[in-house]
Formats: sequence, C-alpha cells, structure tokens
Amino acid sequence: MTQLDSLRIKSLESYHREYDLSVQDPKKFWADKAKSLEWFTPFQEVLNWNFQEPQVRWFEGGTLNASYNCLDRHLAEHGDEEALVWEPNDPTSPTRHYTYRELHAEVEATAALLKEMGVSKGDRVCLYMGMVPELAIGVLACTRIGAIHSVIFGGFSAQSIADRVNDAQAVAILTCDGAYRGAKSIPLKSVVDQALEQCTSVQRVLVLKHIGGDCPMNTNRDRDWLEKLNALKKEGRAHCPAEPMNSEDPLFILYTSGSTGKPKGVVHSTAGYLLWSQYTFLNVFQYQRPQLHFCTADIGWITGHSYIVYGPLLVGGRTLMFEGIPTWPDAGRFWDIVDKHTVDILYTAPTAIRSLMACGLEPLQSKSLASLKVLGTVGEPINAEAWHWYHEHIGKSELPIVDTWWQTETGGILISNLAGVTEAVPTFATLPLPGIQPVLVDENGQILEAAEARGNLCIRYPWPGMIRSTWGDHERCRQTYFSTYPGLYFTGDGCNRNAQGQYRITGRVDDVLNVSGHRIGTAELENAINQHPNVVESAVVGYPHDIKGQGIYAYIICQSLPVESGTARKAILDTVSHLIGPIAKPDKIQFVSGLPKTRSGKIMRRILRKIAEGEWEQLGDTSTLLDPTVVQDIMQSRL
Ligand code: WT7
Repeated sequence: MTQLDSLRIKSLESYHREYDLSVQDPKKFWADKAKSLEWFTPFQEVLNWNFQEPQVRWFEGGTLNASYNCLDRHLAEHGDEEALVWEPNDPTSPTRHYTYRELHAEVEATAALLKEMGVSKGDRVCLYMGMVPELAIGVLACTRIGAIHSVIFGGFSAQSIADRVNDAQAVAILTCDGAYRGAKSIPLKSVVDQALEQCTSVQRVLVLKHIGGDCPMNTNRDRDWLEKLNALKKEGRAHCPAEPMNSEDPLFILYTSGSTGKPKGVVHSTAGYLLWSQYTFLNVFQYQRPQLHFCTADIGWITGHSYIVYGPLLVGGRTLMFEGIPTWPDAGRFWDIVDKHTVDILYTAPTAIRSLMACGLEPLQSKSLASLKVLGTVGEPINAEAWHWYHEHIGKSELPIVDTWWQTETGGILISNLAGVTEAVPTFATLPLPGIQPVLVDENGQILEAAEARGNLCIRYPWPGMIRSTWGDHERCRQTYFSTYPGLYFTGDGCNRNAQGQYRITGRVDDVLNVSGHRIGTAELENAINQHPNVVESAVVGYPHDIKGQGIYAYIICQSLPVESGTARKAILDTVSHLIGPIAKPDKIQFVSGLPKTRSGKIMRRILRKIAEGEWEQLGDTSTLLDPTVVQDIMQSRL
C-alpha cells in the first residue's frame, strides 16, 4: 500500500471510524495522515493553537516543498505519465499535454528564471494571467523557490491589481499579453501597465506572449517569458532545486472580499494546506489514478488552486485545465471536452449548471458523457432543480454528485458527501470531513446542541488547511473570523442541520454577496459606486437570480436626479468595471431620493433586501425608521 492509499476512506464504516478518531485524538490522527507528504525534515510537533490570537501551527519543525510534493516525488514511478491536459479556448487549436517529467522540467526552468530575475524566498509574486498552462507552472515555480504566490483573477481591473500588489508588496508580476475568452480576446499586459503606475514594489514583469500582436514592453522592467526561458534551457541553466520550507511558511496569499471595503489577503501555510488539499481531493472525489479530473474553475479562485493545481498533482493524478468559457462556440463546450478527453470527474459551479440548463437539452444531443464517474458542485447553494438536472442529464441518474462546501479561508473542502461512499442528499453538503467539527450557534453565541437546528455555522477545532492570517493585518483575521463567537472560527454562513446530522448551507449571513459563485462585498461595491462624481450615497443588496444565484441590486442617490437615467446607469456600471471588474457590475440600479435609515443613521438593509426580493408585504418592524415615507417611495419605483 502506498502512503497515499492509506489516506483513502473506502466505505461508510471507515468514514465513521476515521471521523471518530479525528475528533478523539486529532493530533495523532493528523500526525499519521501527514506521513503522506514527502518531508525533507520530519516535523517535531503536530499542533499548537489558540483561537484567541488566533495562532494555529501545524507540523512545526518539519521542512518540505510544495513543488517537490506535486512533481519530483512522482518522477521515479510515474514520470512519463500525464499530469496536465490543456484544452484551449478555440476547439480547433491544438491541445497540450504534459507528463510529470515535462511539467517538472518547465517548473524547474521557470523557477530558475524567477531566481535570475531576482525573486527570492519569501518574496511575493503576483500572477495575472488567463487559463494557460504557464499559470499553473508559474504558481509551482514560485513554490519551488519559496516565493509566495498571489494569483489575481484575470477579470479584475487595474485598480484591483494595484490594491493587491501594494498590499502584498509584490516584487514581480507574471502576466500574458492577453487572454482569450470565447469569441473575445482581452488585454492583460496593458491592464498591468496601468496598475503599475500606482505601484513601486514591482521590479520585474514577466510577459507570456500568448495571443500575439502588439505588446509594448518597458525594457527596464519587462521580460519576454518564453524568450528568457528558452535562453536558460539552451545554456543548460534551466535547473533549480526545491527550497526546503518550514511547515508554517506561507505558501500563498489569495485576496477575497469581506464585509468591509478592502479585500483581504488570506494567507495559507505550506504543510497544512498541502495535506488538506491532497486529503480532501482523494477522498471527496474518490480519485483513482489515472483518472482525469476536470475542474472548471479559474486558478484565480481558491477552487482552482486546490482542485486544478495542488490536489490532483499531489496525488500524482491527471488534471485538465480549460482556457475558455462554457458557452462558446456553443453551450455544448463542456460536454465536448468531456468526450474529447474522456473526463472522469467533472467539478463545476451551480451557476454554470443553471446557465447550461437554460440552454435546453439540444447541446447535449450526440454527446456521450460515458467516461464520467463522479460529478461535483461548489461555490454556492445548489437549488433542487439544478441538482436534478445535473443528476439526470449529465449523471444519467447514476453518478454520485458531491456538493462540496468550503471557502477561500478553509483551503479545501470541509463539508461534503464522499462520492459513492457517503449518502448524497440534494441541496445538502451533508457531512463534515474527518477533522472538521462544525457547530451551529444562535445570535447570542449559544451553541445549538439539538441534532435538528438552524443557526450560524462555526468550526470549533483547527484543521490543517485553515487560514493562518490576513496578510499584513493579523488583527483583521482575528476580528473577522474569531471574534464574533469567541473560541470558534465563524464562517459567515447560515446553515440547517437535520436529524441525521447532515448540513445544508443556506448562504451568507453577513454583507457578502455570492454572484455566480464570485464573492463580492457590498461595502467594497458601494465604495466603488460612490466614486462616481454624481453619486451621493448608495446601498447594495443581493436578490435571488435564476442563473447567478444572487444578483446585485443597487439603490443609488444622485446629486442631481439623472435626467437621462440610461446614461447615468452606464456611467456607474463603467465606474464599477473600472474600479473592481465586470463581475461586480450591478444587475439592477434604482435611483432613489433617500435610503431607509435608523435614527442613528444606519441603513436598514433588511428592508432594502425585502424590496429587492419583491417581498414587501413582510417588511417587518419599520418603527425604528427615521423617515418611513422613504420606503414608500422606493417601493413605488422598484425595478
Ligand atoms: C462561500 C465561500 C469554496 C470555493 C468557492 C467559493 C459559499 C461555497 C458552497 C456549497 C453552499 C457554498 C458559502 C461560502 N459556498 N460552497 N457547496 N453550498 N454554499 O469560495 O469565494 O471563498 O466563497 O461560498 O457561502 O461561505 P469563496
């Protein structure tokens, strides 16, 4: 039995046994599981923690390297087996295939290049790229030299890049000239150029020429990725040993939105994160080599980190990376990819399922899908209709669907059924992974002990993959996740538990929206809207949206009530695109003359949410409103 096999939960009984062990003696449990990683130096202490500061340290004293665990350790036995399959945006363009040996060589060469560019251990490197293999290679190259990667989703604006680069004080950026998205190609390098007008920490920009055509280069700062790489290879200098890193050295930073205005840099550790992504990938999807895993997320989000790059490569598996979008050239694109590459596992988001469902069954005709064995969803609650469509039409009413609940902060999946091992219940994420101790609490912080309960979801014991800090502002980490319910990690999600102990996550209870699986803070969005010179004040809430899950509804007070509201609307959308990115554009904008406020000046979002949802019969208590007529006005002009 290989060390990876010893991690695998093979039956319902073994799930319960493992779960019980993980709660009874977590340190022993994880000390044992951690043997599945390849260590340069063994760890001395399994866990040190308190949730007050918070301080969480797993596997201290040990050293290891992420790229070594993802690549080098597989070379002897599986070096010539496939690691990465890349499907380009254009189905008529050639696909690319990398064996472990080939991927290893590219990562080594790129790591050597980073070093040559002056990047050292502990430095932060931002990646702002499309979904090309070099993105995964760049990420792994950073880890090889101990640089901390911070991937910025390719849809973010120049301003968002600048905010992240400055917060992380990144020394280098890896980017592409541009990216293809369906019928469009979008510029990336010029957006980076614009961002860097506001950044002083960046010494080097490495540019992958992917779409071709004009790409202005700043000769002092910018370097051509492939040109440099080929030069290193030619000179025989494309080698780079894997740097031994301490277990708790940060592996990466990933920025995510919260309830305050500024995105926060979620910091993940090396050993704990690697163990968690490996363990959850193997068990939730019941992955078996050489199955092909197709996670449709972008590597700009945590899902892509854990289940395109780290999880699959850690177990020596095959991962598929897709450059394009689900609906181009037509709505059968995912199914064509599944058939073309004989995909075994498909992991996607409810929003993608709903948008494909809306295209009808025609795009599914003449698709086989016979290679599929496991389906998964992530990112938002899945509604029953989408679940059943996925099950019936993609899973042929046979395949297990794993509904995986987790967050950027959790590093990997925390609550999910295990494919074919534990029961799937439509709309329920179901059971916690071993090591995860969920608790539900009421508003007063009282833990709800009854099996059947409804409350806010917290976790009461550390797990290896959890957030360690928020970059540059540890207090913010404490404040956001550990102060609401002292002694517990607070997820920000509402949740129901049934008599069988299965969990159903109902959505955020804080001021965070989940739009097409993208996390958007209302405060951040309001800040952006308020930047428009004609805007006095704004309030943003979510409302149910058939495809996106949640849509964005913005109530806006303008200085001069817009004469031509179409123009004003467009100007505000442009402002949001410019400051955050197109994903944050409101679906509905209602110009109002006032916002419902309490006497102390607090906006009553509950009321705005009800109006946006069209449920004004049940507005609830409005007696604390400063001016109740405002509500009447808003209701009358509701969109
Ligand atoms: C929020 C985290 C996890 C990677 C993608 C999103 C919601 C996530 C589920 C699910 C119901 C879910 C939660 C969570 N969420 N998965 N299976 N069922 N809700 O990561 O951007 O950090 O967002 O997504 O509300 O808090 P994220």
